[in-house]
Amino acid sequence: MSERTNILGIETSCDETACAVVADGRDVLTSVVASQIELHARFGGVVPEIASRAHIEAINSVIQEAMDEAGTAPGQIAAVAVTNEPGLIGSLLIGLMAAKTISWCWSVPLIGVNHVYAHAYAPALDAEPIDYPAAALICSGGHTALYGCYSPTELKLLGSTIDDAAGEAFDKVANILHLGYPGGPAIDRVARDGDSKAVRFPRPLLGRESLDFSFSGVKTAVLYHVNGVPGERRPRRRKAVATRPPGKQGIENFTPQEVADVAASFQQAMVDVLRTKLLRAAESIGARTLVVGGGVAANSALRRAVQTLADRDGYALRLSEPRFCVDNAAMIAGLAWHYLQAGRVDDLLLEARATVRR
Ligand code: KG4
Ligand code: ZN
Repeated sequence: MSERTNILGIETSCDETACAVVADGRDVLTSVVASQIELHARFGGVVPEIASRAHIEAINSVIQEAMDEAGTAPGQIAAVAVTNEPGLIGSLLIGLMAAKTISWCWSVPLIGVNHVYAHAYAPALDAEPIDYPAAALICSGGHTALYGCYSPTELKLLGSTIDDAAGEAFDKVANILHLGYPGGPAIDRVARDGDSKAVRFPRPLLGRESLDFSFSGVKTAVLYHVNGVPGERRPRRRKAVATRPPGKQGIENFTPQEVADVAASFQQAMVDVLRTKLLRAAESIGARTLVVGGGVAANSALRRAVQTLADRDGYALRLSEPRFCVDNAAMIAGLAWHYLQAGRVDDLLLEARATVRR
């Protein structure tokens, strides 16, 4: 019997079926992720019904693969952890049922984990512990929020998006620019050849103190820039809507360089807002560390921007490795170890919740 405390983690909150085994909250023995991206690509976004069916088909083999890769027998697993909130309800339920079954059959404790809290913990995987207090920016396709973190398990919500999530804005803008799905990586790639100052898109900050986000206006500004303002022959120059030279309507009339310029300018607007709000959050809680997690944390311009910010203002910066930025189960198993240490375990009545009530 291993002396280490191995936790089996399961994650099915959106479109990744994932299972991992993590020892002592930190050492990732294995992290298996079966992505459904190809199934959803032709719809330009995640279709909940397709996602839950795909989870049913994948879950058993993903769990088996993780156990085989980690070389752990059921008797060497101390607990099973599962994302039970927030997420697509049909998807969450598949992982939750699998975890409850394992908990019952193997007689191990069940631990429900908040998916967003786990994203904030991800930089501690295969790495040093995070130096708290930390300000965490968690931005992905489904959520964009700022947290004050005082330990792996003590998080306080400071602000969140009032409309689109950051990743959702990347995905929708990539759609407008005909760059394919998922949009974030495509925009990141194309923007490398673009001029980020070519078009001045809005940077919604919602007032001097606000720690909330609003990205739908940025997305609409890109749409108007590409397709023109509805009901107007020529876009008027006004602050909220970045205009383009008259005569270009529709993305098919843009050269590859112009598309790259729009992508780079949009990305810069997003990065400016995310960085500004992260700094505000850090100052408001007296943070020592900045944490950035979630799928959008893979964005190269955002990573550079927060690194520059941390160097300038003397914060420690903890960015997840790219494989732990996107949805994975290692972050679930890793965080669950802290709950287990604190004796916070659940029973078989644990429920899945699409949204978290506060
Ligand atoms: O965390 P994640 O895998 O799943 C959710 O919980 O949503 O995040 C996926 C999101 C997608 O919207 C994707 O476009 C975005 O993260 N994303 C990126 C990049 N890589 C993934 N956004 C911007 N730049 C990237 N390099
Ligand atoms: Zn996520």
